Amino acid sequence: MINEQKERDFIMMRPMKLAGSELMFGRGCLEYIRTIPEKRIFIVTGGSSMEKSGTLAKVESLFHDNGAETTVFRGVEPDPSFKTVGEGAEAMKNFRPDLIVGLGGGSAMDAGKAMWVYYEHPELTTLDDLLTAKPFPKLRKKARYLCIPSTSGTASEVSRSVVITDDEKGLKHGLGNMEMMPDIAICDPEITITMPPHITAETGMDALTHALEALVSNRANYLSNILAEKAALDIVRTLPIAYKDGKNIDARELMMNASMTAGMAFTNVSLGIVHSLAHAIGGYFHVAHGLANAVILPYIIRFNSAEPYARKAYAGIAGLLGQEDLASVIHGLNEALKIPANLSEIIPDEAGYLKLVPELALAAKNDGCTKTNPIIPEPAQFEELLKLVYYGK
Ligand SMILES: [Fe+2]
Repeated sequence: MINEQKERDFIMMRPMKLAGSELMFGRGCLEYIRTIPEKRIFIVTGGSSMEKSGTLAKVESLFHDNGAETTVFRGVEPDPSFKTVGEGAEAMKNFRPDLIVGLGGGSAMDAGKAMWVYYEHPELTTLDDLLTAKPFPKLRKKARYLCIPSTSGTASEVSRSVVITDDEKGLKHGLGNMEMMPDIAICDPEITITMPPHITAETGMDALTHALEALVSNRANYLSNILAEKAALDIVRTLPIAYKDGKNIDARELMMNASMTAGMAFTNVSLGIVHSLAHAIGGYFHVAHGLANAVILPYIIRFNSAEPYARKAYAGIAGLLGQEDLASVIHGLNEALKIPANLSEIIPDEAGYLKLVPELALAAKNDGCTKTNPIIPEPAQFEELLKLVYYGK
């Protein structure tokens, strides 16, 4: 058959949007800041890593050279809370920025996006106001949004999504709308040079999971497949190099480009149950997102292989890598990155985990990523999968 996609029943294709209006990538592209016309710049960042590495000072000075004024909102936590979003939005209302910058990992970029929505729309006051807003609030009356990622993984710089934690109920909420696609993305690999090896490994495996889940998504299309396939191949080949030698700028650049490319695929065709399970487990046991994805990924490749389209797509990637079995390739990659083969090594409280399995299974079943997985499991199958990823057999 000429068009292999015809082998599958497709949900109607949705409009593709690959990035905002300006997408910069490659070493040194941070200098692009000099051309940005806005003059009141509100920078949102996480812990102290951007300060320590000197990146924050460099970003501010590039804006200052341009005659712009900057202010910094520091301390966005991993899994950013609605409380933090509210504080940031209040600070924005006082400063009145015309450009908001998310600088750091996924948490800083996501929190900045959510703050932006509340800044543009002061009539929204609760998390529920945003989660239930229909139609999604229009943005850009007050400010544009710029992302500068410091990791090669989440791809929030080219995505329409945010994950915000309801600090009162302790629940993570994923929310996606193309309105939140950043206007400008500056993906400069030099910023990622100081990333420690375990963060390189975990965020890189998050990016690989994005590529492989987009590849077999039941919304996958001609263009998303090109992006997902190339990103997956580059990550499998390059991540061990970036992990071993963080100063290797060629490897860092390829990882950043591949992460961004995987992001373009998944923000359009969505993900699958590796993410559904990682969201559930991460929410209850606070396992880092990329680490949870890395451990779960090979088991779900095996599970999804029962579906012919997914089996063929995985075999295609394995073949291009000169291998036969993609799940084994991922197991080997995890080993090289010193990532455990199952969750029992990360969550030692076996009884506590087993007690929560039914609840985790329901959370995974209801996760927004489940509906685009090649096979949509029932809660009982999710329970089996949760035990499989815990014990590894
Ligand atoms: Fe992810």
